[in-house]
Amino acid sequence: MQTENDRLDIFHYLIHDIALYKKLHMSNLQPKSRRQRALDVGYGTGIWCYEMAIENPQWDVIGIDLFANQPRRDSEVPNAQFLTPVDFTGPEWPFQRNEFDFIRNACLAGCVPDWQDHWHKNYRYLRPGGSIDYFEVDWALQYAAHSQLPPHAQPAQYLWNAMQQASSRFGKPIAYPDNTRAMMVNAGFTDPIHQVIRIPFQPRPEKREQRLEQWCKEAIYRRRPGVYPNGIETLEGMCMWLLTQQLGFQPNDVRRLCNEAGRGSAAVFSYRKATLSSWNRVFVATKTNAGLSVLTRDMFLII
Ligand SMILES: C[S@@+](CC[C@H](N)C(=O)[O-])C[C@H]1O[C@@H](n2cnc3c(N)ncnc32)[C@H](O)[C@@H]1O
Repeated sequence: MQTENDRLDIFHYLIHDIALYKKLHMSNLQPKSRRQRALDVGYGTGIWCYEMAIENPQWDVIGIDLFANQPRRDSEVPNAQFLTPVDFTGPEWPFQRNEFDFIRNACLAGCVPDWQDHWHKNYRYLRPGGSIDYFEVDWALQYAAHSQLPPHAQPAQYLWNAMQQASSRFGKPIAYPDNTRAMMVNAGFTDPIHQVIRIPFQPRPEKREQRLEQWCKEAIYRRRPGVYPNGIETLEGMCMWLLTQQLGFQPNDVRRLCNEAGRGSAAVFSYRKATLSSWNRVFVATKTNAGLSVLTRDMFLII
């Protein structure tokens, strides 16, 4: 559990500190004369709720999750509250309609059986004038501006295909849903903005990329001597249950696959100086009183 919590916190810093330049949210949250309410759907370790509550004492920040994962903190944060167990895939959330000024959804791929229903619920519990953020790591391997993956990447691609198959069989696909923006519009959101922030897995001369790459290695290629000489412990955490329970793999086969994927990905780093990367998907969408003005936008930030 501690390893999984560490991984979640590492991703939190990767997304908010590095990819988003130390921003806790992408929605433009205007100050109001009343107290405002934020909801974090599937709060994980609760790190975002704590940071949001501390940075914004005028907000009440509520996290919901199936499990009470949040580690005890030294100091109480009175405006952060955690509700468990709450199943966010159930028909209703335990709140009033229009209750929240802001709803955050982060890294939920693999947890949601029906995304359209998920965005309908976000819309239902969001106050008119409020907005939502959605951050997702899109694990599909991306390589040098859409060119073909090199042969060294095949084990990682094989693993990714197996994870997609297993998670779909489980009923909660791990792949980022490509039709997210259309689903948000269909739920009633106005003008969803979609950004892609590329996370390279290879050192580059620019400082910022080096920091990104360092975080990525921490998060994905975490080493455990003896078990994972090529790193990749985190990958095991992501796929062991899925592959053994849904596809009948043996645990040792999963470890071997993770190691091969790690070794292959490491080889890709030095292959023709091209960069293997994942894409971070960032959405901001608002709920207005003005009905649907469907002015959708895509922005690709290749950093
Ligand atoms: C990958 S973690 C992401 C955590 C957090 N949002 C973050 O970005 O660090 C997914 C979280 O969703 C929670 N979760 C998964 N399915 C859930 C469900 N049906 N209802 C409530 N929480 C759920 C898990 O317990 C876990 O804390």
